Amino acid sequence: SQFKAKFPQGFLWGGATAANQIEGAFDEDGKGLSAADFVEYIPKNERTKDTAIEVTSEQIRRILSGESTARYPKREGIDFYHRYKEDIALLAEMGFKAFRLSIHWSRIFPNGYDEMPNEAGLQFYDNIFDELAKYDIEPVVTLSHYETPYGLTEKYNGWAGRETIDHFVRYAETVFTRYRDKVKYWISFNEINMITISPFTGGGVVSDKEKNPEQAKYQGLHHQFVASSLATKKLHEIIPGGQMGCMLARMSTYPFTPNPEDVLKAQQDNQANLFFTDVHARGEYPKYMDRFFAENGIEIVKETGDDEILKQYPVDYISFSYYMSMLSSASPEGEVTEGNLMNSLKNPYLQASEWGWQIDPIGLRVALNDLYDRYQLPLFLVENGLGAYDKVEEDGSIHDSYRISYLSKHIEQMREAIGDGVDLMGYLAWGPIDLVSMSTSEMSKRYGFIYVDKDDEGEGTLARSRKDSFQWYKEVIESNGEIL
Ligand code: BG6
Repeated sequence: SQFKAKFPQGFLWGGATAANQIEGAFDEDGKGLSAADFVEYIPKNERTKDTAIEVTSEQIRRILSGESTARYPKREGIDFYHRYKEDIALLAEMGFKAFRLSIHWSRIFPNGYDEMPNEAGLQFYDNIFDELAKYDIEPVVTLSHYETPYGLTEKYNGWAGRETIDHFVRYAETVFTRYRDKVKYWISFNEINMITISPFTGGGVVSDKEKNPEQAKYQGLHHQFVASSLATKKLHEIIPGGQMGCMLARMSTYPFTPNPEDVLKAQQDNQANLFFTDVHARGEYPKYMDRFFAENGIEIVKETGDDEILKQYPVDYISFSYYMSMLSSASPEGEVTEGNLMNSLKNPYLQASEWGWQIDPIGLRVALNDLYDRYQLPLFLVENGLGAYDKVEEDGSIHDSYRISYLSKHIEQMREAIGDGVDLMGYLAWGPIDLVSMSTSEMSKRYGFIYVDKDDEGEGTLARSRKDSFQWYKEVIESNGEIL
């Protein structure tokens, strides 16, 4: 009963972002368009979750011809492109050990298929990594975070086309070579499960261009799996000690009731989610997917050698995002609530965020134990956090006790999981500085310790300020998770 779990020395405390949600400058210094640049802002009352991130060929036509009058918040971000020095200084003030960002692929290869990389794009990330190095902050770099270059969509329908693999591997090789002395931790595809939920956001795939969109999703996913393995191979050749992680939006799913039918349904839903990490870590498609593919008329087209590639170059560590847990029932009863990537049944034991995501810190301990039992690989929690409305007081302060409470409860359960024996490399809070929401393109859905003065309509000074959670997180890091 005296047992006290502790974070290990060298634990990577920090935060995580994505280029398209922070940088802005979408057409500066030679950058080409990417999938994220096509996502329009749709006000809350006109929105269904799907239309916010799936894009049709008709929308693309309207956008490219200039007919559309919409705003594209992911083109603006929070102007990190010009303010990164100030922003990194603030992260350093909190004592960050690690900072996750993505390289916006279309800054490096503007169309995706270009012969030569764009030097200005490469230089930008050199500047970022040098700035982080000043403060001893370890970069954790995602190669693809919903940022497939539009050129690849035009030419191959994004990841639905096999050709995209080669372009990705060339891009990966280019950045590994360029940043070999600056970046050790890499992640191939952010939330690789996204391509099966929104093929456009997850893979630059325009569904209405496909005869069988369901097939195209899984074919695109297969291409991403192969590309990830080939990138891992290159990484190990180019950067000794370089580590590649996969990235899963983990949806830990509980049965709605003890009815065995619900238990079975929850098991199937968990398999459907763990399928992605199974391939990445074990290097082969799990058997349970055969039935799913057969029942859904999906036939993955593999080239000779694909299976060997997957088997030979699995990932070095498992990174994942965790925001909430899910609930499944065999019968379509029960009230539904919104969630990250997918909706869920309402769990009567849990509270939800203002966006309906069900808050479940113990579920994080469960998820960590499950993942570690299954793979016996180091884990890295690279996204977790609470999207919430913040109120700026007259004196400029922001009292975000709800955020502190969410984060401290999750960190506490993470510490317990370490006590259970889980090998966890680090913790990266999502959106340490307010950024554009992935699912809704809102600014008002804020995750940050640092407030950014910008609203949903794009108005504001962009000034940065510290919320109450800023000082709190600083102390968490300083005490290596002792003071929560
Ligand atoms: C994850 C994504 O799904 O969740 C991030 O990797 C995203 O890009 C985060 O921002 C939070 O989701 P949202 O929709 O609240 O921005």
